[in-house]
Amino acid sequence: MTIPRHIAIIMDGNGRWAKQRGLPRIRGHEEGAESLRAVLTACGEQGVEFLTVYAFSTENWKRPKTEVAALMRLLTHFLKKEIPDLMAKNVRLQAIGRLTDLPDFCRRELHNAIETTAQNTGVTLVLALSYSGRMEIIDGIQSLLREIKLGHIDAAMIDAEVFSKHLYTRYYPDPDLLIRTSGEMRISNFLLWQLSYTEMYVTTKLWPDFRKPDLLDAIRDYNQRQRRYGGL
Ligand code: IPE
Ligand code: IPE
Ligand code: MG
Repeated sequence: MTIPRHIAIIMDGNGRWAKQRGLPRIRGHEEGAESLRAVLTACGEQGVEFLTVYAFSTENWKRPKTEVAALMRLLTHFLKKEIPDLMAKNVRLQAIGRLTDLPDFCRRELHNAIETTAQNTGVTLVLALSYSGRMEIIDGIQSLLREIKLGHIDAAMIDAEVFSKHLYTRYYPDPDLLIRTSGEMRISNFLLWQLSYTEMYVTTKLWPDFRKPDLLDAIRDYNQRQRRYGGL
């Protein structure tokens, strides 16, 4: 079986999962954190090198204050509590997005987790936090313009490869497989540049119900694909 080197996931459906059970939405997010733990372990077992998960979009700041606050608390708690487990699993944690938007208490835990796990050599788990694909592209253009102004690069030399080095994801290969749960057939401003030739897999399962067997199903499905990149 071919194992995708990089899997990206839009972890969607936590609210619906909770609603179906008459529970508060945050319970869905908590159960979603369990799914992330299970999927991360399975990625390690399967030899996936990079796992990028959409945890919070810039648009998600529009949600009611109480939900945003609960999500930030959950994220902070997750980061703190997971460190021993990330170390045991040899996981290196990283983050992409406008991280300066996050509350201080959350940013501190995030940086601590990133530093503590920096030397690990197993799966790289990339959390997309306050992330927007369009914003990332705009930030990349700004960064290129600065370099041009400083005389470090010549505008005529800009191509896709040069541009990629100015994105938040400059250290990672493009995703091979994108998984979206809860049946939604859209990208929702995730990795707009990087997904150009990524294979997509949408399942109607809600994220809190998505566990190891579901990941294996997605990898098996990926193995049926023929990636042509526009060729024959
Ligand atoms: C995904 O679940 C998690 C975040 C966006 C933070 P949702 O909260 O979007 O759940 P649904 O889509 O309302 O069911
Ligand atoms: C995408 O889910 C963002 C995350 C999973 C963090 P949303 O629930 O925010 O996206 P839409 O509103 O369905 O497009
Ligand atoms: Mg949603």
